[in-house]
Amino acid sequence: MNKVFIETYGCQMNVYDSELVLSILKKEGYELCGSIESADLILVNTCSIRENAEQRVWGRLDHFLQEKRKRQDLIVGVLGCMAERVKEKLLEHPVVNIVAGPDTYRTLPKMINDIRENAKQMNIQLSRHETYADITPVRTDKNGVSAFISIMRGCNNMCTYCIVPYVRGSERSRDPHSIVREAKELFEAGYREVNLLGQNVDSYLWVDPENPTNTTNFAQLIELVALISPKLRVRFSTSHPKDMGNGVLYSMAMYPNICSHIHLPVQSGSDRMLEKMNRKYDRAKYMERIHKIREIIPDAAITTDIIAGYCSETIEDHKATLSLMEEVKYDYAFMFQYSMRPNTYAARHFTDDVPLEEKTRRLNEIIELQNRHSLESNQKDVGKVFEVLVEGTSKKNKEELFGRTPGNKVCVFPACGHKAGDYVHVKVTGCTSATLLSEIVEQ
Ligand code: SAH
Ligand code: SF4
Ligand code: F3S
Repeated sequence: MNKVFIETYGCQMNVYDSELVLSILKKEGYELCGSIESADLILVNTCSIRENAEQRVWGRLDHFLQEKRKRQDLIVGVLGCMAERVKEKLLEHPVVNIVAGPDTYRTLPKMINDIRENAKQMNIQLSRHETYADITPVRTDKNGVSAFISIMRGCNNMCTYCIVPYVRGSERSRDPHSIVREAKELFEAGYREVNLLGQNVDSYLWVDPENPTNTTNFAQLIELVALISPKLRVRFSTSHPKDMGNGVLYSMAMYPNICSHIHLPVQSGSDRMLEKMNRKYDRAKYMERIHKIREIIPDAAITTDIIAGYCSETIEDHKATLSLMEEVKYDYAFMFQYSMRPNTYAARHFTDDVPLEEKTRRLNEIIELQNRHSLESNQKDVGKVFEVLVEGTSKKNKEELFGRTPGNKVCVFPACGHKAGDYVHVKVTGCTSATLLSEIVEQ
């Protein structure tokens, strides 16, 4: 048996894609191994979203080179977004044999075989149609409870700072039958949660090629998945403020097993910045969506992404972001300082003019405020009862289990004979800014 070691960087889509790749390679007789020393093939699935994500990968390639010096027949492949962006420059690294973009994974076995004839292989063709709908990923998660399902690929939104549309290609939705089939198979294998993934799930749209009047939108898709079983939790990300309609909110309100959590990236609280980012909503429209979520799903957790120090961002723009955060009071946020990505609209037309120290200072202010809000949000949960899906044993204490509330907050509690995959009701007794402390209650 040949052994493959896969290292994954970047977002949940890459985690899913690595599982697809493993499935493709297993059919060719490969099995997964846990270390580079025992691998015949090392694959690194990469991310280009910010410069530091790429720097880490260059560092890893240098590290793999140590291993290759000992074993000349070791094969190293770079997959994913950075493969698509950096292209042949990656092949110049002495350790790299294969460069494969996100839409080319079906050709990996052939590329591996062809290395014997030609030491270097590259395929970075993007596709308008590839959704890997027929491939069942080999799950590599540790818990066997929660899994990702990719429902669409690519992105058509062209936010001016973002590399994703260039490295993932244009948006395409996957056949809903294949999504429901995959979710059903997971449920039958003991999984209790699926997380439906797309860059903008609200623009999911399947048009049946046999009968174009037959369409499925995202609100309908989450219903189809929720109907598999009330014991299967449904999550999804990412929602886009410009496209998130009320239909999705109503589907969420209808089905208790669709978790009341919306990840709604705002990026900035300043209208001038939002316009410059080409986000296609303004602060008022964003707030209208927030109010609608709270009206239809009063207990919904709301999380976001924020970028600090975008091109020409002033102190006033930055303050607008802080004031929007005060207005929404997010339960959680992913916060970044702007990183210029080559060849994006921003790189070609704007100047990356906020000095690095100032970007960092603004980011730290944003993080500090969010930490306060996260703690307040957790404190508000003390005394409440939540249904939690048990995911495993707590890292800090073997006598305790951990799981997540529907709002995606991590909860720890004494085991009381329960195990991963069980649903329990817990009462929150205390908290930190990251975790809810709780105990099991009879329901
Ligand atoms: N499709 C999702 C997010 C994809 S990328 C959406 O539209 O919201 C995840 C997050 O990375 C983005 O929401 C943004 O906050 C951040 N990001 C993207 N490009 C970036 C860049 N050039 N510099 C810093 N952060 C960036
Ligand atoms: Fe990037 Fe915007 Fe697409 Fe999200 S919606 S992936 S931020 S271009
Ligand atoms: Fe994801 Fe990074 Fe690519 S965030 S889509 S792996 S650029």
